[in-house]
Amino acid sequence: MEITQRNNLGEKISNWYVDNGRQNLPWRHSISPYRVWISEIMLQQTQVNTAIAYFDQFIDKYPDLETIKNASEDSIYALWSGLGYYRRASYIYQAKELIHNKFKGKMPNNYDELVSLPGIGRSTAGAILSIAFNKPYPILDANVKKVISRIFFKKDFDEKSFWKLSEDILDTKNIFNFQQGVMDLGSQLCSPKNPKCNLCPINTNCESNLRNEFPILLKRSIKQKKEYIEFRIIKKNHKYFMTKENDLGYWNNLWMPPVQAVNRHKSDIIHKLSHRELNISFRNSNQKPQNISGEWFDKKELAQIAIPKPIFNRLLIDG
Ligand code: ADE
Repeated sequence: MEITQRNNLGEKISNWYVDNGRQNLPWRHSISPYRVWISEIMLQQTQVNTAIAYFDQFIDKYPDLETIKNASEDSIYALWSGLGYYRRASYIYQAKELIHNKFKGKMPNNYDELVSLPGIGRSTAGAILSIAFNKPYPILDANVKKVISRIFFKKDFDEKSFWKLSEDILDTKNIFNFQQGVMDLGSQLCSPKNPKCNLCPINTNCESNLRNEFPILLKRSIKQKKEYIEFRIIKKNHKYFMTKENDLGYWNNLWMPPVQAVNRHKSDIIHKLSHRELNISFRNSNQKPQNISGEWFDKKELAQIAIPKPIFNRLLIDG
């Protein structure tokens, strides 16, 4: 490694955050382990700008562990409506049950107990420990990986090396500012094309900047299986017929119009899940199927239940 002056690299990031970071993101003030947990679960798969309104709405309804104590799974799903990756809402439900039953209603403050909770892996545990408890644990999300790969001028590292480097660069004395700062550097300055190195506090520590050549982090591609499905949108008197019954093998427990797999290889939209490419078509109908049970919802009610994102978009955003 040819980086010079690496020692105070972390401190430079922390100082930069104080003057330049996005300090007013809602999960960056009134810090509590609970707020950090909820925000980090949201931010696992959701962009910051989208997460803000969902976080505010969630915290409005359930501001702390005590208020969420008796919440039903459905009521947590409702707050997730339109956000996608609903498994996260279910994890929050399961984890708060465990926190109340096993951890006396307090968020664990150590690594092993945190990763024992559903939805919390190494990076989310690191975020909770560092941001809420001031402990020197690293976070390793896409932004942190990007910054590390730029500092060390590599397109890729194995996970173990990424974790090691994320520990090496930590500013353990100012862990809160460092963590928020490194994520902001990744998202605000260290862009894939045209990074803003002249504004970057660690430009003299960064091998990519010194070489004026900027590797773009390789995305691990997951093979996505193509599937074709058709939704039958049934509308009567401004209400939509929705069911929780489907044989898809995913989207369990979500409300949606009756759906079936089809052989026809055409679609209105494509929607990607982590392991599937869904080719979705819609058909309007005014016949409720005999053999499927469900309920009728108007648009206001639809916004209160958890429905797959493409259905949410189709019924509530596009028309
Ligand atoms: N992504 C994950 N955690 C984050 C945070 N605390 N701020 C901004 N983006 C994030």
